[in-house]
Amino acid sequence: MSASTARTVPTEPHVMPTFGRLPIAIARGQGCRVWDTEGRSYLDALAGIAVNTLGHNHPEFVAALQQQMTEVIHCCNYYYTPNAEKLAEKLTTFSGMTNVFYCNSGLEANEAAIKLARKYGHDKGITNPQIVVYEKAFHGRSIATLSATGNAKLQKGFEPLLEGFIRVPLNDIDALKKATEGNPNVVAVFFETIQGEGGINPMQMQYLRDVRALCDQRDWLMMVDEVQSGMGRTGKWFAHQWAGVVPDVMPLAKGLASGVPIGAVVAGPKAAGVLTAGTHGSTFGGNPLAVRAGLETIRIMEKDNLMGNAARMGQYLMDAFTREFANVTGVKEIRGQGLMIGIDLDRPCGAIMQRALDAGLLLSVTADSVVRLLPPLILTQAEADELVSILVPLIKNFLAEQA
Ligand SMILES: Cc1ncc(COP(=O)(O)O)c(C=O)c1O
Repeated sequence: MSASTARTVPTEPHVMPTFGRLPIAIARGQGCRVWDTEGRSYLDALAGIAVNTLGHNHPEFVAALQQQMTEVIHCCNYYYTPNAEKLAEKLTTFSGMTNVFYCNSGLEANEAAIKLARKYGHDKGITNPQIVVYEKAFHGRSIATLSATGNAKLQKGFEPLLEGFIRVPLNDIDALKKATEGNPNVVAVFFETIQGEGGINPMQMQYLRDVRALCDQRDWLMMVDEVQSGMGRTGKWFAHQWAGVVPDVMPLAKGLASGVPIGAVVAGPKAAGVLTAGTHGSTFGGNPLAVRAGLETIRIMEKDNLMGNAARMGQYLMDAFTREFANVTGVKEIRGQGLMIGIDLDRPCGAIMQRALDAGLLLSVTADSVVRLLPPLILTQAEADELVSILVPLIKNFLAEQA
């Protein structure tokens, strides 16, 4: 059945309407493809918003989870579980950092990072610690992470927000120096290497190196939210590694366990000893099913060189879009790295999500005018070609109609 066949629109009167849903219900997936409950198929260029690293129904991944479920799904954090250490060892080796705290989502990882930064300050005698954050940032929707987020629309209605954040523009080292000049309360600089929800806005490599140097000089923590850009999506384990820097604190989630909820905070020597027994915790954090999913995701990524694939397919898509949209009025910029790509249009384009759905393609529009692609890291060249062949005419038609 083609995606544009007339649909029965699903309803969910008992679910809180916190999401403006599109009118399909997803029933199953296979690789980079999903099917709705009425049998229509879609190419998945969103991967559950950068979550399904291995695509859907990956046979080795599913078999590992099934085996794990027969052993133990959950036991509380009073006890050791062997795979928590194995996954932590992988993450610290890949990042050049030393220790991991586990939780269940991106916002929880960021919440832990914010708490860590505050305690880092208190341990040094700073009673009113402040954290530098960025315009257009997105760190989550808890009160602390929403306060760190740079989007007034998302914050409206939830005031009072948390104090203790200093906001600066992206990629402007002088602005960062000026905003913190003579302020002894600053404890950390907190940012996404490539802002995801904010519109695929990359930090410049030199800026990252300058921030690292400033953090060293002033004894601040460099805290890099790799929740969306991490876990191989840009062609390195973590996007900041393109700049050759090592942060002090790195929240992860999304793609880490390929769809099983998990969050993690990786910390380096300056930060790893700050959260001690009893100072932070999480019931589900690092549970045996989640860490097994993380380990298996990494095992398959390494075996099949999925980071290499992300870099290759990302460049392939970038080249195709650059070629196809050259001289197309209305396409302002194509940004991103690896399989984290944003096509920035000169006008609001939320309607493209529905149009893509009608054409059999899942994607998202973020920051009002940026078409965002975050496909699974298993994307093949044939699927990349299919993506281009659906999306390019769709965007061109959209722009021509609105001209
Ligand atoms: C960079 C970044 N940080 C944090 C979050 C929040 O993650 P979660 O939705 O798992 O709480 C997101 C979600 O989009 C994100 O992109």
